[in-house]
Amino acid sequence: MTQPPDLAGRHIVLGLSGGIACYKSAELVRELTRAGASVQVVMTPAAEQFITAVTMQALSGRPVVRSQWDERQPNAMAHINLSREADAILIAPASADLIAQLAQGRADELLSLLCLARPFASGHERVPLLLAPAMNREMWAHPATQRNAAQVVADGALLLGPGHGDQACGEIGDGRMLEAVELRDALIAFFTPKLLQGRKLLITAGPTFEPIDPVRGLTNLSSGKMGFAIARAAQEAGAEVTLVAGPVHLDTPAGVRRIDVRTAQQMFDAVLPLAGQHEVFVATAAVADWRPAGVSDAKIKKQADRAVPGLDLVENPDILAAVARLPRPPYCVGFAAESHDLARHAREKLHRKNVPLVVGNLGPATFGRDDNALLLVDAQGDREVPAASKRTLAQELVREIAQRLSARG
Ligand code: C5P
Repeated sequence: MTQPPDLAGRHIVLGLSGGIACYKSAELVRELTRAGASVQVVMTPAAEQFITAVTMQALSGRPVVRSQWDERQPNAMAHINLSREADAILIAPASADLIAQLAQGRADELLSLLCLARPFASGHERVPLLLAPAMNREMWAHPATQRNAAQVVADGALLLGPGHGDQACGEIGDGRMLEAVELRDALIAFFTPKLLQGRKLLITAGPTFEPIDPVRGLTNLSSGKMGFAIARAAQEAGAEVTLVAGPVHLDTPAGVRRIDVRTAQQMFDAVLPLAGQHEVFVATAAVADWRPAGVSDAKIKKQADRAVPGLDLVENPDILAAVARLPRPPYCVGFAAESHDLARHAREKLHRKNVPLVVGNLGPATFGRDDNALLLVDAQGDREVPAASKRTLAQELVREIAQRLSARG
């Protein structure tokens, strides 16, 4: 199943005001177009001191609009045309001066003018304005800039960032423009329907690692990708997400609170106190069923005259079952990674763990991969979700969970 890219059909007016972060805007155009958007670049004269209109035209595939007096506009109304055709206006970088102009409602060059002219009243005609501030930390911290930023937010704009870190001027602090991929993802999140607005989700992901000695342990091939994809999709849908992750090498999705653990017992200890504060618990983690009964403090050495060491195992606590047994449990979603007889095993898990929804998948076919196929099993029956990327499946699962939550009231 091929899914259209995340920004398919979206038309973005990307405004550049003057700042060294303009170099990141070239990459941003690439990221937005790769994600399916069409991008119309508008540049202020100050932006053109940092990057050329030719570069931005080549990357966006459209001539840049640089002036209100652009003679190519048949009606000579660039500010109206640009602001009417956009699904969103993103200004990146948004300089201190540009933000000051917007705060005052000034319109003395094209970019601030088209922001002032954008359809503003609520309703489907409304064109959202997103700003990615970029400036020296002292400029960002200045009371005038803070006052202006608060004013543009009060007037309906959304701020993306700024980030914290090294600045082109050699100083370190708040004021960096977010990276191109962060801005792309923020835009994707912005357009995502808020099906889980304000809901609190707790998610486990990845394998666990059960030590045998300081250098060895028992684990499995779970990559954590499915759980991380669900965390991202839920966050984009407006949820507050806590992700308890076993040892995996994956970036934390934006806006998600992450708690790293190693063993099943640590995962249990992290999850149980939090579960009662969440409305939904999604257990995607492939928790090791057993752990070595004792952990050797020193590396177990191979010795010619010694027999092969035995491994005594004890059972790990069942995190999902324990959460489902709480007096007021969250809505629990279990995962069943099976090698065969998926439907039967998933239904058996539904009853044994006493949870309302189990998501079955074929473990060997999906562990570590970017795609998967799911079988949703609940009291109503089974529903197959055909093979797709884990991102697409996560978005589908978020819709399914949202539907079930609203059905419960
Ligand atoms: O039957 P099994 O224990 O493999 O069920 C898998 C489901 O239970 C998954 O949702 C998994 O995250 C969860 N689980 C758990 N704690 C365990 C074992 C499994 O939360 N110790």
